[in-house]
Amino acid sequence: MSLEQTLNDEERLADLDLGQLRELVGLVEYDASGDPFPVSGWDALVWVVGNAVQSAHFFQSAFGMELVAYSGPETGNRDHHAYVLRSGAARFVITGAYDPSSPLADHHRRHGDGIVDIALSVPDVDRCIAHAEAQGATVLERPHDLTDEHGTVRIGAIATYGDTRHTLVDRSRYTGPYLPGFAARTSTIERGAGAPKRLFQAVDHVVGNVELGAMDEWVAFYNRVMGFTNMAEFIGEDIATDYSALMSKVVANGNHRVKFPLNEPAVGKKKSQIDEYLEFYGGPGAQHVALATNDIIGTVDAMRARGVEFLSTPDSYYEDPELRARIGQVRAPIEELQARGILVDRDEDGYLLQIFTRPTGDRPTVFFELIERHGSLGFGKGNFKALFEAIEREQARRGNF
Ligand SMILES: [Fe+2]
Repeated sequence: MSLEQTLNDEERLADLDLGQLRELVGLVEYDASGDPFPVSGWDALVWVVGNAVQSAHFFQSAFGMELVAYSGPETGNRDHHAYVLRSGAARFVITGAYDPSSPLADHHRRHGDGIVDIALSVPDVDRCIAHAEAQGATVLERPHDLTDEHGTVRIGAIATYGDTRHTLVDRSRYTGPYLPGFAARTSTIERGAGAPKRLFQAVDHVVGNVELGAMDEWVAFYNRVMGFTNMAEFIGEDIATDYSALMSKVVANGNHRVKFPLNEPAVGKKKSQIDEYLEFYGGPGAQHVALATNDIIGTVDAMRARGVEFLSTPDSYYEDPELRARIGQVRAPIEELQARGILVDRDEDGYLLQIFTRPTGDRPTVFFELIERHGSLGFGKGNFKALFEAIEREQARRGNF
């Protein structure tokens, strides 16, 4: 698969060309001929929430996403509401139970708001499922067609950590707004004059939290079942503060369009942020979604004006002469970054700017990252300590530290 082929129709529609996408999410060239499980990109992040009507509103009003499709009682779906939202190439599907006996209501009782499905776009669903099954994966849905007047989507699904799944989707023969059963629908929220067209362009990575001792198992799962390769690992000093610790390894598909950091708690003097997640999510699950933006300053300003809360960064972070020496010249004056609490990291390939939100649901579980890459293919290793200290301050405020 050439890099050109990784650009799907959604990305073309979002006015992203390959150069922009490569910079935005750190794409690399790779030879797909030996790839047993070719993945071309993200299809959707499917959420289960306690109130899809209001969460869909939040993602439109605060995150600037656009409503494109809907399924619910009015379209014949007697089980749940589902709102399909877009921002550039990123697609979220927000689902919430309508029928009290819906399985989604049980899921929400166990886990709270969270991501149930990290759906991936693949050119050959059957080949992927056959390979996954041969490698011992749990197949949740055998490959099958969904068809309506807009064409046919082929899908299948495998299980990953916790109650999370990967649905594999080939929508190359489909022109509808999402999947058969969904009706096109548009936002009723007025965008103010001069508001940016979108606040982020793509999903960069989705992090999974797993139990102590399980990280290597899941790394091996992604290596063996999905042909993902290891990109980076962070252990020991990299990722510990004076009090709490975690370990992290990153796997990615061939061209790095899809990147999955996997965290497990490590033993520290106090409770790891990963333990807090596992306790409140009720097991392993998706921890944070990194959203790629080409204007993190504008995005943070817009989101903050709409009520999104970000973790704070102490002034000492910016005043540290070591930081200034390490990061060198970046596109904005450091005072501009400091005013917003945006973190900076540099590695051999370039630099990145990033910032993290507070958890966006009731439980201290899932949250978001905004990331603006300038050549760096990393994850902000130089910022881990500052980030974890910020999370510890939040944990302490919640009484979970
Ligand atoms: Fe991240």
